[in-house]
Amino acid sequence: MTCPHDILPLAHPPAVGYDRAGREVLAAALRARLSAEAVVRVDEPLARRTTLRVGGPADWWVAPASEADLAELLRFCSAHALPWRVLGRGSNLLVRDGGVRGVVVSLSHPYWSRVRVQGEEIHAGAGALVKTVAAAASQHELGGLEFFEGIPGSVGGALRMNAGAFQSWTFAVLDRLRWMQPDGAIEERPAADVPAQYRSCPPLARAVALGAVFRGRREAPEVIRARMAAYSARRRQTQPREPSAGCLFKNPAALPAGRLIEELGLKGAAVGGARVSEIHGNFIVTRPGARARDVLELLERVRAEAQARRGIRLEPEVEIWGED
Ligand code: FAD
Ligand code: EPU
Repeated sequence: MTCPHDILPLAHPPAVGYDRAGREVLAAALRARLSAEAVVRVDEPLARRTTLRVGGPADWWVAPASEADLAELLRFCSAHALPWRVLGRGSNLLVRDGGVRGVVVSLSHPYWSRVRVQGEEIHAGAGALVKTVAAAASQHELGGLEFFEGIPGSVGGALRMNAGAFQSWTFAVLDRLRWMQPDGAIEERPAADVPAQYRSCPPLARAVALGAVFRGRREAPEVIRARMAAYSARRRQTQPREPSAGCLFKNPAALPAGRLIEELGLKGAAVGGARVSEIHGNFIVTRPGARARDVLELLERVRAEAQARRGIRLEPEVEIWGED
């Protein structure tokens, strides 16, 4: 096997500061190491890969086509001191207008989106949509995963965020999960052994979730369908349809963030192409032409008012990537 330094000189500048030609050279070196099915792109726009629809490009966007590809990619990043992040469906992300330095790893190759039901277990790749997991569970008369239905993220994103709704959450229905460490080593653990809290699973902050096994409970199909329909209807009534990243802030202990923002009179407040939704105060929605900086300015305004007028510190749930 060739050492990365056989391809690129040791004196190559660090990740921040590669010019376009340098990024292309590095991309070619990486392509040579991955399978033919993997995709490596330079300066890939991320706005269209996030549900907020704003933000700049990734220096490198890489879609590995297997676990072997992913391990090779992570080792390559380590050898070249390239920072990397994993992108799911981009439904909890705000990418700044200047884009992301380093590598954005995407599990969008079909290899990662397999979903299979075996008895009461639902096996899902990290790239599968949680909606697909909910649908598969329902088709097999397995209840308990209906809350996934309206969450527009991937299994990997749901594990990292411990996504939840309607009094349930990912780790409540998770049996076990697998992930890859930055050195390419794979670990599999029962969910009970992995720390997870409200909207976070800290061990996944520096690892790539590969897949999960969820557990449903046998239930009558009409009961499952009715629960799903009720959740969908509730979402349609209470959450906006325009581009957003879901709830912007975690709910503080004192009261739900949406109610607080409504009480502060901030619904409808706007900066450029970003607006606090009139339907739900904890959603910022964007219109075409919006910039990440509009969303950030509005987010800061909401935070500042919550702090100044109510003494409440709002913590963003949305992840903010990149630079201005
Ligand atoms: P991304 O947004 O792409 O990434 C989020 C985080 O997960 C990042 O840190 C990323 O690095 C990490 N990540 C992604 N994949 C992996 C992986 N394979 N391994 C390790 N880390 C990974 N959330 C809720 O909890 N409940 C809701 O009810 C809800 N409703 C929403 C409704 C709307 C309309 C929208 C737009 C969003 C909503 N969200 C909700 C937010 C969002 O859908 C969830 O947080 C979701 O779990 C994010 O998944 P994703 O694949 O889009 O992750
Ligand atoms: N409320 C208002 N005004 C608003 C919004 C909400 O007064 O503008 C009030 C509601 O009337 C209700 C309370 O606040 O009494 C809670 O509102 P809601 O039921 O809409 O739930 P939420 O706490 O705002 C949470 C999750 C959502 C999840 C829903 C449904 C957080 C930050 N948000 O919202 O998750 O879909 O419950 O279970 O925990 C997300 O995390 O991105 C997300 C959308």
